[in-house]
Amino acid sequence: MIEFRYLSKVYDRGIRALNNITLKIERGEFVFLVGLSGAGKTTFLRMIYADERPTSGFVYVAGKDVGNIPRRNIPYLRRQIGIVFQDFKLLYSKTVFENVAFALRVIGTKEAEVYKRTLKALNIVELTQKKSCFPYELSGGEQQRVAIARAIINDPPILLSDEPTGNLDAQLTNGIINLFLNANEQGTTVIIATHDLELARRYGGRIIHIANGEIL
Ligand SMILES: Nc1ncnc2c1ncn2[C@@H]1O[C@H](COP(=O)(O)OP(=O)(O)O)[C@@H](O)[C@H]1O
Ligand SMILES: [Mg+2]
Repeated sequence: MIEFRYLSKVYDRGIRALNNITLKIERGEFVFLVGLSGAGKTTFLRMIYADERPTSGFVYVAGKDVGNIPRRNIPYLRRQIGIVFQDFKLLYSKTVFENVAFALRVIGTKEAEVYKRTLKALNIVELTQKKSCFPYELSGGEQQRVAIARAIINDPPILLSDEPTGNLDAQLTNGIINLFLNANEQGTTVIIATHDLELARRYGGRIIHIANGEIL
């Protein structure tokens, strides 16, 4: 499903964020990518959704050479991938409902379908009651769940999440990870980047350790 081959990423100023990474993540795996701040986790995820291109080596997603993907094909790639960003990237002038519905609207989904699927996603993250709120009216944990609802609304085969539990208490963390586990039970390949090794150990699944841009 996802494969890195001899992949390195060197940013401007010569910072080597990923160094010669070769690994495979199979369809349906539940993976924690664990490493300290600066280890290269976010860069690793960015390779998968073509937010940055590798400096050398390859990344394949569902058989496609994503490192060399033509710009015009990137939207199609992203439709396969639900992404929960570390800083959520919500649209702050739009309601919870509209934030979640957005991904369906941009692909021209019919209104009745948008309504049905958005409510279903909001129900999964238990935010139905807040559908008319704006993001600034929500707690951090609630904003996080809006971001998750938006990421799962298209039933993408791949779900990426960057430090989803950064500043949540244990109970909220458990709820969030369970949402990812449920998606995984439906067949979604899940990758969660985290600095929290204990968290990764608690939930089972595969742990990929990353340090200084290298897989250990
Ligand atoms: N856009 C960028 N430009 C230059 N350097 C970057 C950029 N993004 C990340 N880096 C550097 O790459 C290294 C890995 O960063 P990152 O992938 O964000 O790690 P993590 O998510 O594990 O904290 C760090 O040294 C970081 O400073
Ligand atoms: Mg990061």
